[in-house]
Amino acid sequence: MLRKNLTVRPRIPLAPVLSGAALRGMRTDGRLPSVLDAGQARLVTSGRIAIALALREMGVGPGDAVLVPAYHSQSMIPPVLHLGASPVFYRLRADTSVDLDDVVARLAPNVKVLMVTHYFGFLQDLSALRSLCDARGLLLLEDCAHAFFGEHAGRPVGAWGDYAAASSMKFHPVYEGGALVSRRHGLERVALRPAGAGFEAKSALATLEKGFEYGRLRLLRALMAPPLKLKDAAWSRLKARRRTAAGATAAAPSLAPSSSDSSYDFDPAWLDKRSSWLSRLLVRRLPAAPIVAERRRRYLKLEQALRGLPRARPLFAALPDTVCPWMFPMLADAPETLFDELLAAGMPVTRFARPLWPGVDETVCPASSMLSRQVLAFPCHQALREDELDWMIATLRTILQS
Ligand SMILES: Cc1ncc(COP(=O)(O)O)c(C=O)c1O
Repeated sequence: MLRKNLTVRPRIPLAPVLSGAALRGMRTDGRLPSVLDAGQARLVTSGRIAIALALREMGVGPGDAVLVPAYHSQSMIPPVLHLGASPVFYRLRADTSVDLDDVVARLAPNVKVLMVTHYFGFLQDLSALRSLCDARGLLLLEDCAHAFFGEHAGRPVGAWGDYAAASSMKFHPVYEGGALVSRRHGLERVALRPAGAGFEAKSALATLEKGFEYGRLRLLRALMAPPLKLKDAAWSRLKARRRTAAGATAAAPSLAPSSSDSSYDFDPAWLDKRSSWLSRLLVRRLPAAPIVAERRRRYLKLEQALRGLPRARPLFAALPDTVCPWMFPMLADAPETLFDELLAAGMPVTRFARPLWPGVDETVCPASSMLSRQVLAFPCHQALREDELDWMIATLRTILQS
């Protein structure tokens, strides 16, 4: 039930969308390197595809084990299974840092890789993890899905791992995108090919339509309204025709990976496919400094406005200079009730790592189980308009103080 003193404002994007401001590049302070500065890179269609390619390059196969954090997105596990390996879940601490003692306790002859995640953009202690891997003969995979930008001890995020995997969609206004990066190993064997004209068209149109959906690029939207109507009609006809040809239960033809539609699925058909032209252009060419500066500014504005309120508190005590946040995470006391209230008010909010992979519960890692239940995350991306951010803050303050 919506309370009377709240105004509904449901159309705020959870992830960056294309806007005039994004294309102009708003500010130039706030420099931080990106994962693409860490080494050679291959731009693919998602982070999970980059994880699978990294594991394949590391020679992971049947019988091998990969150490995976107990606090994870379900999309991180199918790439491990695809290679015939099994995930071994290790513990984290309540501040999301890796529990090194637990990692050591889980080492066995078949454990080949340690996968570490930089949650919400906050970097793990990469020097310590690198030393551990070197000492124990492990390969290190940096999961930079939440950390496209950042640095540790003077080196870009992604440069400490044998390989790094990034998810471009979380930081750039693109429909699909991920990156496989390596500073230590050549990527010559990773041969990618174009995914075809249908995919290129789908990626470009979906990128624009996402912007239109949230009230961005209004002039372009007006100009494109007639051709987009024709496209929708043609697409519906094509789907109907395929359904009739293949029977009523046939799935709609898919031009793009399901990873772009909030699904945890892993489709190996996308392993050798290059990201679309538009996505590669935006990921490589949009100036990084404004993305970093604008995300940091929005994060700090949220933190300052919400710190000290009841019902929830920021997950991290401070925002280090070396961090470009993915989202603004808060730890809620009664997350279920609060989440429902926020959704009812139209708040853009998400629960990362909920649910966890089947079998991963508090007996595997109490901190991960707690984080999966209690963290609610709010957008702080560069495409949020100031009025949207102000509405989020006012609404959150009202709800948290109620
Ligand atoms: C920590 C983490 N790693 C990897 C991934 C996979 O990224 P993608 O959705 O681009 O496949 C995600 C996706 O949410 C994630 O949150």
